[in-house]
Amino acid sequence: GKSGYDHFMLKEIHEQPRALRQCLRGRVDELAGQVDLADLGDLSPRGIHLVACGTSYHAAVYAAQLFQQAGIPAQAFLASEYATSPPPIGDALVIGVTQSGETADTLSALREARKRGARTLAVTNTVGSTAARECDHAMYIRAGPEIGVAATKTFSSQIAALNLLALAITSVGDAREVISGLRDLPGAVQEILDTSTARKIAEAYRDAESYFFIGRGLHYPVALEGALKMKEITYKHAEGFAAGELKHGPLALVTQDTPVFAIVTGDDEQATKTVGNVKEVEARDAPVVAVTDGASDVERYADHVLEVPDTHRRVAAVVANVQLQLVAYHTADMLGRSIDKPRNLAKSVTVE
Ligand code: M6R
Repeated sequence: GKSGYDHFMLKEIHEQPRALRQCLRGRVDELAGQVDLADLGDLSPRGIHLVACGTSYHAAVYAAQLFQQAGIPAQAFLASEYATSPPPIGDALVIGVTQSGETADTLSALREARKRGARTLAVTNTVGSTAARECDHAMYIRAGPEIGVAATKTFSSQIAALNLLALAITSVGDAREVISGLRDLPGAVQEILDTSTARKIAEAYRDAESYFFIGRGLHYPVALEGALKMKEITYKHAEGFAAGELKHGPLALVTQDTPVFAIVTGDDEQATKTVGNVKEVEARDAPVVAVTDGASDVERYADHVLEVPDTHRRVAAVVANVQLQLVAYHTADMLGRSIDKPRNLAKSVTVE
């Protein structure tokens, strides 16, 4: 059942700290600064393709950046596009990111990769799923069953699992920091759940016809995910952009009627650039909601702030996303939408 929550989606949002702990359990040795995924064997890939759809694709876009930063050429593909102009595969490892393990587009991309000689790995929530059975390897995200059509806890757990995978197959210098960041992640998510003011933001902007989400680097897939969640459960137009792309076209759509959610954490060059993009939308009178840890001066240009704790950047992306899950949820709730079963959508899309 829904354990007292109005919707499975809200229940699953609240299950995230536990889901994340389950994902990490037994897989990290904090003292040694090492990750143990022994059951995966020796993968040592020279290149990585990630194939996925929807929310899982956003996790893949995030993960491709982790592998790239560790020096492994990596690219995320929409599974439905993968086979149409197949990229050179060499001896790449092809990772299918799929909660259900049954998504037809993802299965067919993985089959295509295997046909062309690639090794395949399923990162999935579902033991015994088709993806898990057909791939050479499987890594389970251990989020527990997800009933709501909107993927929430499984996105967070995919991100955690892909962080572990990146640590296990690359030797990055900052492994210890990342591991301690991951250890802090469940608590940081709990803090958001306990303190979020997302319902107030939802109240303020429930009548908007269109919402924009912007972020750079690891926050770019979070912008995409924030927009997807908003459109699928509120039925309103929402778009996520790489912050730097706004001025290349979408800025023409920005008016006082388009709330812009800007994800900005830390105070590095990336943050400074995104703050610059926020100034551009603020100058067009757009309401700005900054999702921020307060390290930069983005709040000066924002109408509202959704706070996230000061964490490792990899973790900040996940906690920022939890704030956006809550904004989408509360907006849909106020609009009386069918949150757990949005119109036209299925939990698992088994046709191409
Ligand atoms: O089961 P999968 O992760 O392969 O599903 C892929 C998408 O259909 C899925 O992530 C979809 O976008 C979400 N339900 C949206 O919330």
